[in-house]
Amino acid sequence: ERPTPALFLGRNYVVWQDNDGEWRVMPDACPHRLAPLSEGRIDRTANRIECAYHGWAFDAQGKCKMIPQMEGTSLRNALASPRSCIDSLPVAVHKSIIFAWPWGGVPTLGTGEGTPEAMLAGVADSASTYTRDLPYGWDSLVENIIDPGHVPWAHHGLQGKREDALPINMTMLSGADDQSGFSFEFQDRTMGKRRSGMGQFRAPYVVSYDAEFETLPGKPPSRPFKLTVVCIPTQPGWSRAIIFGFTGGDKKPKRRVAPLPPPATAKVEAEQQKRKTLISRVFGLFPVWFIHTLSSRFLDSDLAFLHYQEKELGRRQPKAVAQAYFMPAAADQPIDTLRQWLSKHAPVLGPLPSRIRDR
Ligand code: FES
Ligand SMILES: [Fe+2]
Repeated sequence: ERPTPALFLGRNYVVWQDNDGEWRVMPDACPHRLAPLSEGRIDRTANRIECAYHGWAFDAQGKCKMIPQMEGTSLRNALASPRSCIDSLPVAVHKSIIFAWPWGGVPTLGTGEGTPEAMLAGVADSASTYTRDLPYGWDSLVENIIDPGHVPWAHHGLQGKREDALPINMTMLSGADDQSGFSFEFQDRTMGKRRSGMGQFRAPYVVSYDAEFETLPGKPPSRPFKLTVVCIPTQPGWSRAIIFGFTGGDKKPKRRVAPLPPPATAKVEAEQQKRKTLISRVFGLFPVWFIHTLSSRFLDSDLAFLHYQEKELGRRQPKAVAQAYFMPAAADQPIDTLRQWLSKHAPVLGPLPSRIRDR
């Protein structure tokens, strides 16, 4: 019912839904005197977004349809001028996320990598999302999510315990050459159970995990670990994470360093199925705000590390980030690969736009 502001690479956008249910994304500055349209309102009678400052109004294509301070020929001339119009970006909606193409013209992506479909492969249509703006940049966020080594420490008591920490068996399945991202296999331990699976950086926005836990003697099997995080570069020093809670499985790790034994009998399978249903039922009982509170606690627990790590990195201004880090462990390999990937495929051509506002 109201327009919503959004940030991407330091630029402000307004997002709104027209009367046909189509999502519209436009630069968040009225062509008249640049007031934010996200502070305006949606005129449902005329199907327009209206600037709250002087009442100029725009249709879904961004064409100016009303300038209340004008009439007659001069109004017609002003409405016909491209200067009174605003861009309406190409938009795609996939798995309840609105994607927009801000680089002008039509999207040049094909059907392969980098598309919303490729990045969100394996996410169930019914997956719930949790969204949070974080006070550290996109690269720190991606670094953190492809780093299983910090979990027992930074998230002690939440998603692991310090006693879980061990040398992580890490194998890069691909290096930094591929523009579409890279993947790695890993074996670690969390909450006392060995975990084995694959992590993927699906360039440019998604990190996805698919792993399984060992079954301890006398204990029921654990639910597989599936996590998909969309990492959005909102503005310098800030990022937004969209975490998919319940992901379906249309993909499996291709190969594991030490495959876990398959369920021995139909009885075990039945037990797994029963447990799965029980977990979905139990999670269904929690209100969304409760699950979000837990997710917030999780992100809170290493927020300060990333925020200050990034500040320190900015202060040192190394030519390459790898010069500032000392990363001798196999567990550090994905971070090293990410930094190489960034310098190969995402060179910063000039200074990023300065911060516009803290929203
Ligand atoms: S700034 Fe939007 S109508 Fe004047
Ligand atoms: Fe005034």
